[in-house]
Amino acid sequence: THTPRIFSGVQPTGALTLGNYLGALKRFVEMQDNAGMETIYCIVDLHAITLWQEPESLRQAIRAVAAAYLASGLDPKKSIIFNQSQVSAHAELGWVCSCVVRLGWLNRMTQFKDKAGKHAEAASGGLYMYPALMAADILAYRATHVPVGEDQKQHLELARDIAAKFNNDFNVPDFFPLPEPMIGGPAPRVMSLRDGTKKMSKSDPSDMSRINLTDDADTIAAKIRKAKTDPEPLPETLEGLEGRPEARNLVGIMAALTDRTAEDVLAEFAGQGFGAFKPRLAEAAVAHLSPLTAEMNRLLADPAEIDRVLGDGAERADAIARPIMAEVFDVVGF
Ligand code: ADP
Ligand code: NA
Repeated sequence: THTPRIFSGVQPTGALTLGNYLGALKRFVEMQDNAGMETIYCIVDLHAITLWQEPESLRQAIRAVAAAYLASGLDPKKSIIFNQSQVSAHAELGWVCSCVVRLGWLNRMTQFKDKAGKHAEAASGGLYMYPALMAADILAYRATHVPVGEDQKQHLELARDIAAKFNNDFNVPDFFPLPEPMIGGPAPRVMSLRDGTKKMSKSDPSDMSRINLTDDADTIAAKIRKAKTDPEPLPETLEGLEGRPEARNLVGIMAALTDRTAEDVLAEFAGQGFGAFKPRLAEAAVAHLSPLTAEMNRLLADPAEIDRVLGDGAERADAIARPIMAEVFDVVGF
């Protein structure tokens, strides 16, 4: 009974990676163009400050994510593109969701454990509450579908639990839809170039572990050349990649970049070693990413225009969220 609507977001916490691009941005664009659904894409700056961000870098990073969105092909005429802190419903509903979520649920979140590390006592309260704010981001629009990478699966399940508990506690069945995760596409989990068991992340201390959307052609080629692999040639079938996470990852990246299946990539390269495969992968990555990087740089030269696009998006997002917030406040008893 809820209108289908897509919501997703990216944190402005440093240069975006190929993982963000293949797992999120590229899919955002496909959904904008195909789904016949309303698409809402946020830059989640409130989430970013759960870890310390230097204010001027944060300001730049917000514009850089906006530029990456636009350069990837998101069109402000087709999608709502905006910055989270400019729409107050996120913080307001975030508080309500914080009061719905149970501490026991939050204690199970593996991302908190990963990000807080050994010093959980020193982590911010915001980092702990992050999944409640993420639930609010989605529910503020009654979004029904959320395209994310595999790393966000557990948070999406929590958002569903929060929606269901709200509906149940206040006896308003179906008030919030239970958002469906859309995890998939050819690269739901792009792995580190240095360690095939860790996800490629903008927060990995090693810059060689990831390809950044701002890397130039030589840097991309060097990172792929130095990527960890094994001495075996590429197999004919996917089963032959089992137990070879680094090889599996590079094949998956090639598939995603060239809009093919991993099977098709293997059909082309079976029997060849990485000495032959890597230069071809570097070529594909550069061919795909360099126009994107150039367009990002062009857009970033005019920050006022980016701010205008974000301001316009915020107004349109607010127009959807504001009446839903009024209903939430009424249900809660405010
Ligand atoms: P990061 O995890 O790099 O800090 P975000 O938390 O802002 O980035 O994630 C933005 C989007 O990118 C999310 O949908 C997330 O699932 C996706 N994503 C992040 N890293 C990867 C990856 N290595 N592979 C696939 N998708 C990813
Ligand atoms: Na993430």
